[in-house]
Amino acid sequence: MDHIPKRFLTLERHIIENERKFPEATGELSDLLSDLALAAKIISLEVNKAGLVDILGFTGEKNIHGDEVKKLDVFAHEILINAMNHGGHLCVMASEEEENLIHIPKGNKIGKYVLLFDPLDGSSNIDVNISIGTIFSIYRRKSKGNGPGTMEDCLQKGSEQVAAGYIIYGSSTMLVYTTGNGVYGFTLDPAVGEFLLSHDNIRIPTKGKIYSINEGNYLYWDDGLKKYIKYLQQNDKETGRPYSARYVGSLVADFHRNLIYGGIFMYPGDKKNPNGKLRLMYECNPLAFIVEQAGGKASDGYQRILDIEPKELHQKTPLFIGSPHDVRIAEEFVQGKRDLET
Ligand code: AHG
Ligand code: MN
Ligand code: MN
Repeated sequence: MDHIPKRFLTLERHIIENERKFPEATGELSDLLSDLALAAKIISLEVNKAGLVDILGFTGEKNIHGDEVKKLDVFAHEILINAMNHGGHLCVMASEEEENLIHIPKGNKIGKYVLLFDPLDGSSNIDVNISIGTIFSIYRRKSKGNGPGTMEDCLQKGSEQVAAGYIIYGSSTMLVYTTGNGVYGFTLDPAVGEFLLSHDNIRIPTKGKIYSINEGNYLYWDDGLKKYIKYLQQNDKETGRPYSARYVGSLVADFHRNLIYGGIFMYPGDKKNPNGKLRLMYECNPLAFIVEQAGGKASDGYQRILDIEPKELHQKTPLFIGSPHDVRIAEEFVQGKRDLET
């Protein structure tokens, strides 16, 4: 009878129990995370019936990054804003789908937290039923007073995050989060409409056997990276090579698989895009916080993602993230400190 979970621990209960460990906790972060979970349930509902209602396809617009905007991108963006802008816990928000800061509407209490998010990650996969996700990052405001939050409140180093997480809309809907005390995964039970603890204290394997990268960009890669991928493809039983290549094209799906199984995800800079494609503030920083809390590593090939001083809201960074052993070896090749054995 071990299929009956030992404890029906809901996300809300887990957050409260986690916060109770900190006497100074005011419960505001719990409320904020619970509001996010509600938004995730609504988005999940739409994602799971996207094929049935007119929410697929393109809006015909392009976002500030020049990407074609999908209806579900906009839908998720609006759901998150409407779910989060009146809870009284935020002073400002920022989204991949909005160039400027998103302020709290007049008349609503202004709180002490900052929320940055990628409302829908993996947009290119929406219309073909491949897992997609939402990624979020939470900071405490830095600016003084109780007025609207500022750009300074948003442009904080990843190491300043107080919480981060993602929702993956896949074969099941899962919410994975950290507040700096480990990584916890909750699976949505649609029957009761609750996120229930399914992955207690996730730890990433120190070394994996999977690598994830878009090999279509091979011609634009630097030599060090080309050598590293060649290294992973070589036959060497002792070091578990060759690795398997797995690339879904949704960062959240590729990251989540490697978090559970071990391995490395790379979106490097290349001759076409020197800073790669992924955004620092609402893709790389939150996942870097999570992977480090699970015992993993995240760098741009040279420095820790969480140490990068942000300059712009939508700035991009190369990303090497996953099992610490694998990220370390990738860095050695990328930095030219390691070569293929001849
Ligand atoms: P988004 O849909 O939020 O723009 O993110 C898409 C990202 C990320 O999810 C994925 O890892 C990457 O785009 C895939 O890019 P390529 O198609 O260039 O490999
Ligand atoms: Mn994304
Ligand atoms: Mn997106």
